[in-house]
Amino acid sequence: MYQAPRGTADILPVEQPYWRYVERAIEEITRRYGYRRIDTPVFEETGLFRRSAGDYTDIVQKEMYTFEDRGGVSLTLKPEGTPAVCRAYLEHGMHNLPPPVKLYYISPIFRYDRPQAGRYRQHHQFGAEAIGSADPALDAEVIDMAWQFYRLLGLSGLTLELNSIGCKTCRPGYLAALKDYYCAHVARLCADCKARFEKNPLRLLDCKEPSCQEIADNAPRGLEHLCPDCSAHFAALQKYLAVLGIPATLNHRLVRGLDYYTRTVFEFQPSFEGRQSTIGGGGRYDDLIVELGGRPTPACGFATGIERIIINLKRQGLELPPPPAPAVFIAFIGEAAKEAAVRLAGELRREGIPAALGFGERSLKGRMREADASGARYAVIIGDEELAGGTVTLRDMRSATQEKVPAAALIPRLRRDIPA
Ligand code: HAM
Repeated sequence: MYQAPRGTADILPVEQPYWRYVERAIEEITRRYGYRRIDTPVFEETGLFRRSAGDYTDIVQKEMYTFEDRGGVSLTLKPEGTPAVCRAYLEHGMHNLPPPVKLYYISPIFRYDRPQAGRYRQHHQFGAEAIGSADPALDAEVIDMAWQFYRLLGLSGLTLELNSIGCKTCRPGYLAALKDYYCAHVARLCADCKARFEKNPLRLLDCKEPSCQEIADNAPRGLEHLCPDCSAHFAALQKYLAVLGIPATLNHRLVRGLDYYTRTVFEFQPSFEGRQSTIGGGGRYDDLIVELGGRPTPACGFATGIERIIINLKRQGLELPPPPAPAVFIAFIGEAAKEAAVRLAGELRREGIPAALGFGERSLKGRMREADASGARYAVIIGDEELAGGTVTLRDMRSATQEKVPAAALIPRLRRDIPA
């Protein structure tokens, strides 16, 4: 028998209420902060993601689902949402709109990662991108939106970790200081970090290996190497976060797994688990749009994993009712009654009343068991007697009482008792 591919999951009907709950919160929060929805294709040209994330990131090196289509074009399933939104921003001339252009998405994301609790090969992100302003108040607004989003959902115990990784001006100096420091420790680094030392030294700081973490803890700190502009930007961001009442914890080892970030980077951590449980993250990416062929356009954004949100909501004990049962179950006895039952089911549904019809041949007893299992509030029974008298039998499944109702009076009667 076939199974869902490793690292993917079916979202079964019982799970759907959690997804609707999160989606409703997304709609509400994006409305409050003025974001408009954008949907981009599930795959893009591979070059877009390579260019954006950076060649020496885990995403590009190990995690992309890349394939050639029948026309020989290299395509990749979206391993994150930001590059696709920037591509669409450029392609559709959104730089002509008043900045910042604020866009959000809910999208499946594909990463060939080692599956484990909370880590999947297909997951879903809610992401938001604000394109066209370098103002630190925008960084604060993006972080505030994420924070209020989690609050709206009722998620508690989250920590906001914050750092600044500088810009084109100050980062080279910092990287040189990092390499200087790491020179003495290369022999003790894990194999991945040995490669990072050569190709992507910033990423040395967030290695998960305990021995590398110890070295990273004592590494030179980015905040101490910021240029005056980046320093002022970071100070202003912290001021605005304080104004908004959002507590931030500085983490000098927070660098994020994508190379496009400049200045602000941040992550939201739940209280109880290790680092791979990060629930959301983002930052500023002032050089990405230029990298993709646009004019210099500063931008800032964040994304959060919906599966991880739901795991955390459940851990906190949020229980959501299952999808509603049909209001009415229609049971018939005999072929003539069946025709009337099919007609009635159609009429009820056209009136907006959720109705279920029994199929196949069953005894009345079997039908009533079916009505019970359906969870319907009422059963409508149609047999020869009802047909002859122009009535139906209406059974209240809760009180187990029943009465004959004129067929013509059924819909107004149900309307009275069933909330629209
Ligand atoms: P990211 O941190 O790579 O950022 O992913 C965002 C969130 O997606 C993570 O915090 C996590 O909740 C969830 N996530 C990531 N990988 C997985 C996985 N394998 N399984 C389940 N959930 C996962 C980005 O993707 C950036 N594009 C965010 C951004 C937007 N930065 C600026 N704008």
